[in-house]
Amino acid sequence: MTEPFFRGRRLRMTDSIRALARETVVEPRDLIQGMFVIEGKGKRIPVDAMPGVDRLCVDQLRSEVDLIREAGVPAVLLFGVPEEKDVKATGAWKENNLVQRAVTEIKKHDPDMVVITDVCLCAYTDHGHCGHVKEGVIDNDSSLETIAKMALSHARAGADIVAPSDMMDGRVGAIREMLDKNGFEYTPILSYAAKYASAFYGPFREAAKSAPKQGNRKSYQMDSANVRQAMREIAADIEEGADLVMVKPALAYLDVIHEARRRFDVPIVAYNVSGEYSMVKAAAERGWIDEKVIVTEILTAIKRAGADRIITYFGKTFRGK
Ligand code: PBG
Repeated sequence: MTEPFFRGRRLRMTDSIRALARETVVEPRDLIQGMFVIEGKGKRIPVDAMPGVDRLCVDQLRSEVDLIREAGVPAVLLFGVPEEKDVKATGAWKENNLVQRAVTEIKKHDPDMVVITDVCLCAYTDHGHCGHVKEGVIDNDSSLETIAKMALSHARAGADIVAPSDMMDGRVGAIREMLDKNGFEYTPILSYAAKYASAFYGPFREAAKSAPKQGNRKSYQMDSANVRQAMREIAADIEEGADLVMVKPALAYLDVIHEARRRFDVPIVAYNVSGEYSMVKAAAERGWIDEKVIVTEILTAIKRAGADRIITYFGKTFRGK
């Protein structure tokens, strides 16, 4: 005789049965490790708000990349933390500058490690905004050429993928054109397509020293209340030539990831950002949560929502289930 109710617990009685019934499994190969590069020699400087994350100078990258490789993580996202900043963001596109050297170093050491570079002016401008400022406004169109030049210099240094995070309109098209004109037609663009103005970036701005000196990023990064607008942004970036698109942050935007997955066929990358990392670390340090279990739960949620790949600072220590 059949029972009068659904016996869902049958698929949850043992570890092995649970594993058999599991719908979503996050593996290290799904992850992209975020990394910060600084000037100097022999230096590793911890980021206070991100325990476990150090800013590394170029000569420290090899051993770090080995750890990432050992963890099974196949890709890194590089951020430059330059000493020199100016009004034109000269350091962003100067050949052989910090990030460019870091890319070359990693590719020389581990040619199969996928090196993705963040393309944005905020760490290079003296005012800390992601584009050029004209009469108090972040000027869209004059920023495009600088951003495209920055992407080209990363490609020249050997970057596998360039990832514009500035949220200027038209930058994906400008970068595509610049890359194509210079013989980099096979370099993919991962656009931070739906990037929200978020307080979850707080610890990153300490790490990258990239906080705006005045004002905020709300005239270019998205309003956190909007999901339909995110679809418009993603559609525009795909039309301009984005090969992969990103939703950022991840945890408070799982609905955006889900909707993007439903609507678009390009790979969807989600960014498990600095604030999401720091909150877990802070609570774990106090013994309030179990870090390992919670990291798996969080990354699984992001993948379950529809992300194909996840940028995270947990990659190096993540070991899966
Ligand atoms: C650069 C950039 C930021 C992040 C990635 N690229 C900061 C910002 O937009 O202010 C945030 C990443 C993180 O918080 O982990 N524009």
